[in-house]
Amino acid sequence: MHSTDFIPQPFTRDASRGKITWQAPSNIALVKYWGKKEDQIPANPSVSFTLDTSRTTTTLEYAKKEIAGSDADFELYFEGKKKEDFKPKIETFFKRIQKYCPYLTDYQFVISTENSFPHSSGIASSASGMSALALCVMSLERELNPTMTEVFFNKKASFLARLGSGSACRSIEGDLVVWGEHKEIKQSSDLYGIKYPGDVHPVFKGFQDTILLVDKGTKHVSSSVGHNLMHGHPFAEARFAQAYSNLDLLENIFKTGDLKAFIGIVESEALTLHAMMMSSRPYFILMKPNTLKIINKIWEFRETTGLPVCFTLDAGANVHVLYPEKDKGIIFEFIKNELVAYCENEQYLCDRVGKGATRIDQD
Ligand code: PMV
Repeated sequence: MHSTDFIPQPFTRDASRGKITWQAPSNIALVKYWGKKEDQIPANPSVSFTLDTSRTTTTLEYAKKEIAGSDADFELYFEGKKKEDFKPKIETFFKRIQKYCPYLTDYQFVISTENSFPHSSGIASSASGMSALALCVMSLERELNPTMTEVFFNKKASFLARLGSGSACRSIEGDLVVWGEHKEIKQSSDLYGIKYPGDVHPVFKGFQDTILLVDKGTKHVSSSVGHNLMHGHPFAEARFAQAYSNLDLLENIFKTGDLKAFIGIVESEALTLHAMMMSSRPYFILMKPNTLKIINKIWEFRETTGLPVCFTLDAGANVHVLYPEKDKGIIFEFIKNELVAYCENEQYLCDRVGKGATRIDQD
């Protein structure tokens, strides 16, 4: 598909006013997206587990205006309070998607949004937030074009979410999502995420992600600054090629359930992401001493018990501890007894692989 395929034909239906609510999950990348080209096109393909309980709920109320404006017109509420400082990001998002959703300027919107995870937990809400909003926009479009297929709905929702925040395009469906063209993965695209089409071993169903909140401070490096650091980065080309081949390797791992090989790729991806930040100009260290303590504890525990627990990281200090559901009892005990002490105020979130976003209103 080409991006122009998402420009709609004139609509036959009208929608004067209404209210739409979507809940969209966060996701955690196994092969990381770090570096992009123009228009939020990723420099390499990535794959993520869609999460379950870390979600954003967004309601879009719309009322058709007498005269269409030149920009999307909206008020924004976060956790029930007007939030002016979140507006510029949404304004930029609406501007970017205007070409694909020309009906946006016909409406007055009220957007109300809240997260299931605590504010300033260091968990990025852009993936769940942008995907929830993109889905609300698509439900409005479906009001105008009721014949739209489910497949197109999800593709365009992911396409729009990508224009808000790259990784958000992996938060529409579950439970494993690939974004970025890869010659071995049928239908993969730089424009949107797709459900991973290959075979997936049952061990990956219900995989657990306990998110250890090591540093709840706001991110010191925004992801757009981070992605830009890959332009002219001395290791960029090698890194992009490595992500591509890691995805290749994962195909067989997903199929066979080879957790040893899975752990090797996932942990290497996390450390490589941070290595890219440490070796760019300017350079950053986003891990904290407690991030390293947790990593070492996980390695020690894995060595002594032989249990398949591993970690991954986002562009921050928090640690995602990943493990199969069948080992949950003993591994969660270990997390509580040995790792939680390294979290800020002992805070952590229990999440798992999820099925994707859900519309939660009645229409
Ligand atoms: O979607 P962005 O622009 O916030 O970038 C997210 C990048 C990482 O979370 C570090 C990796 C990923 O693939 O999710």
